[in-house]
Amino acid sequence: MEGLGDARFRIALHADGRGGFTEACKEFIRIPGTLPRGAVAEKIVKNLCARYDADELGNVPLGAQIMGSDAELLTLAAKHLGEDKNAPRVDLNCGCPASVVTGKGAGSSLLKDPKFVYDAVRAVARGVEGTNAIVTMKLRTGYDDSGLLRENLCAARDAGARFISLHARTRAQGYSGRANWDDIAFAKEVLGDDVPIIGNGDVTSPLRCAELLRVSNADGVGIGRGAVQDPLIFRRIAATVKRDVNGVWRVTEDAFEREFEVDFVVTFLRTFAEEVFKTENKLNSKRGSGVQERELEAFKVGKLKSIVKYLFAGNEALKPHIQEVMRIDPLKMSAEDALDTIERLVVREWVTPQHVLVDAFSARAQYQK
Ligand SMILES: Cc1cc2nc3c(=O)[nH]c(=O)nc-3n(C[C@H](O)[C@H](O)[C@H](O)COP(=O)(O)O)c2cc1C
Repeated sequence: MEGLGDARFRIALHADGRGGFTEACKEFIRIPGTLPRGAVAEKIVKNLCARYDADELGNVPLGAQIMGSDAELLTLAAKHLGEDKNAPRVDLNCGCPASVVTGKGAGSSLLKDPKFVYDAVRAVARGVEGTNAIVTMKLRTGYDDSGLLRENLCAARDAGARFISLHARTRAQGYSGRANWDDIAFAKEVLGDDVPIIGNGDVTSPLRCAELLRVSNADGVGIGRGAVQDPLIFRRIAATVKRDVNGVWRVTEDAFEREFEVDFVVTFLRTFAEEVFKTENKLNSKRGSGVQERELEAFKVGKLKSIVKYLFAGNEALKPHIQEVMRIDPLKMSAEDALDTIERLVVREWVTPQHVLVDAFSARAQYQK
């Protein structure tokens, strides 16, 4: 996920080298709609892709995701990622609902016409030709409605997508209501065994993962917000979601002791903080006195708060403490002490999260300082 789910988050989730997820994780790169051609474009695209590191997590390969609408630039970016950066896959973003993106013809607005989807996937496929990278696509079920879902899926398949992740909401839905997993089942019917489908939307627990798999017959599951609410979710699923003797997806007993969960979450928080503090210290020493100590401290505390909004909101016992953390004033409390406060709350209150789903975008604005 862009922003919240950036490298710091991924590294924290994988702190003990066993985050539980597979290659579905990816770094997001936004390619501008228009650029001068030739060497200038190449330089800009290289700079945009500079922070992508296929080996970021060591034993789990990291995919790259690009978002754009200009076929030539998509090809250029995909080629650079496959050839020079050794990306295992380049995923095309056809899901982003933000108007600043759709206004430029990228993200979910490609879903308005299957030809846009075909051309964009084809452009990425051209770019990775002759490299080890595969082309994949992430989409929503449609722009205003899901009327073109079949055509968009077929366009992606025909253009070379090797697997497809489907967030079962339209762009118009944003994050409202429930994800419609029947649309994932529909996608499976349309594509059969040609192109695997990763079902996505509202999976926050092993139970909901098993439900999605049962309803849709998807080949895999993608998780966004649930991973911030419950950093153990991938392991929980790997340990407890299994097919029964009849081949039906079921959940076995919850596998983890509270002590193990608390240790994991504390390590997650510490690693996340370490990554945030490290990056920002580097930035500070580069800029010399340009960045005020106070601003830096506010930045670090802000990052911790952004995690807490999700981590605590999905947890019945921690939820009542969100305001307490949001009220932390970086002028009065250092980021180190803020981390300490958050950790103590986790150690004292942590319970296994239930099926709560935090709305990504309202959660950002909901809690005031
Ligand atoms: C903060 C945030 C950032 C996201 N960034 C991306 C992104 O960069 N690329 C992408 O394909 N999806 C992105 N998504 C969408 C998620 O991958 C996922 O499709 C969506 O959140 C629905 O799944 P969930 O119910 O498991 O959260 C983002 C979601 C959130 C909440």
